[in-house]
Amino acid sequence: MTRIIIEGGKKLSGTVRVGGAKNAALPIMAGSILSHGKVVLSNIPNLNDVETMEKVLSALGVKCRQISDGTIELAADGNLSEEAPYELVKTMRASFFVMGPLLARLKRAKIPLPGGCAIGVRPVDIHLKGFEMLGARVSLEAGCAVATADRLIGAPIMLDFPSVGATENLMMAAVYAEGTTTINNAAREPEIVDLANFLRSMGASITGAGTASITINGVKALGGTNYSIISDRIEAGTFLVLASLFQDSILIDNCSTDSLHAVIAKLQEMGAEIKPEGNGIRVKGPDRLKSAEIKTLPFPGFPTDLQAQFMAAMCLSEGTSLVTETVFENRFMHVSELIRMGAKLNIRDRTVVINGVDKLIGAPVMATDLRAGAAMVIAGLVAEGTTEVGNVHHIDRGYEKLVDRLRGLGAVIHRLEPDSNE
Ligand code: EPZ
Repeated sequence: MTRIIIEGGKKLSGTVRVGGAKNAALPIMAGSILSHGKVVLSNIPNLNDVETMEKVLSALGVKCRQISDGTIELAADGNLSEEAPYELVKTMRASFFVMGPLLARLKRAKIPLPGGCAIGVRPVDIHLKGFEMLGARVSLEAGCAVATADRLIGAPIMLDFPSVGATENLMMAAVYAEGTTTINNAAREPEIVDLANFLRSMGASITGAGTASITINGVKALGGTNYSIISDRIEAGTFLVLASLFQDSILIDNCSTDSLHAVIAKLQEMGAEIKPEGNGIRVKGPDRLKSAEIKTLPFPGFPTDLQAQFMAAMCLSEGTSLVTETVFENRFMHVSELIRMGAKLNIRDRTVVINGVDKLIGAPVMATDLRAGAAMVIAGLVAEGTTEVGNVHHIDRGYEKLVDRLRGLGAVIHRLEPDSNE
């Protein structure tokens, strides 16, 4: 098992650059299925999840090729299959984003139901109900969701929850529907806006993305496009939390404060100095962060994808902090790992009570999901002694060259690849 080994307690400073947004790249790559032309995407991060999406698209008949570092070309101009392979979908639930575009283009899609993961069951009922409201017949066959339609007719769709994935899947399913579709109680994340801008660059008619009500007027066909995706606000937020733990300032480059207001406000409340600088954000932490309370909510509320990282920082804050997770039902797997490092945490239903300690002690710990993995790396960087983070594949799904970039800030950190006999 690959591990990340960290010698904690080093002073970090300098500049770290944020990459393209994983959670924009994945739905946008799936959206290439809708195009009758060539789609060239840039600022695409080099991540395991992006590689998996390329494999899913290739299995469906989309021609994928790397043009240069961070730039890929996708062509869905040939015969497409309506069925995605289970062995790929089970490794990445975002593969389910191909269902809406396939249904729109082929009027048929058969996609294995994505499994749950460490943070929750993660059903897709809201997606499937939306497809039915567009006129599709949806059934379950041997673990696969099957949707077929003679015609897709635009309709008003009310989401039971502002699901990011359901909003994206249904926006893509509606692109070729006859007439007008409105998605109400839609998710408002910046990645939704990026997907809508991408689809509009190919000729789709979409308004309201970024608000709770998105309108899609069906069109006949979408052409090709050259599109650069947004930078990753969750990666930026991860580095903001890390930088707030150090007193020498750190510049987080290639990101903007636009989609980070809730995160920046919370870190400022905890005592960090944060201000825009050039094409990035400069951060300087106080001697010790103050305690605070966070409650995760759909955008523009506090992002669930930064909950674990904040919890790691709050372990060292003075006083008592509270973290309440309202988006996923099981996103506290990192609590027991942080306790192994000396954190004083108690789970009370959907809230963790954090009593700040003066120091964390390095230890062997595990990444239990992508963002929890980032939290354990943050904890290791500020702990005394050596921390070994296992299950690094979780981290590789969402953070490109994380070890190299942290080393660039002065961290003493390296990857330990498994020996052949391990
Ligand atoms: C997206 O997942 C992100 N993934 C997640 O990021 C992120 O945590 C999440 O949105 C919330 O912001 C990608 O974009 C690839 P949801 P998604 O549908 O679309 C329930 C990361 O670390 N729900 O908004 O799966 C669901 O169970 C990942 O980068 C239903 O009940 O999230 C959850 O409790 C982790 N039925 C809540 O809604 C449905 O049909 C939010 O899920 C769909 C969702």
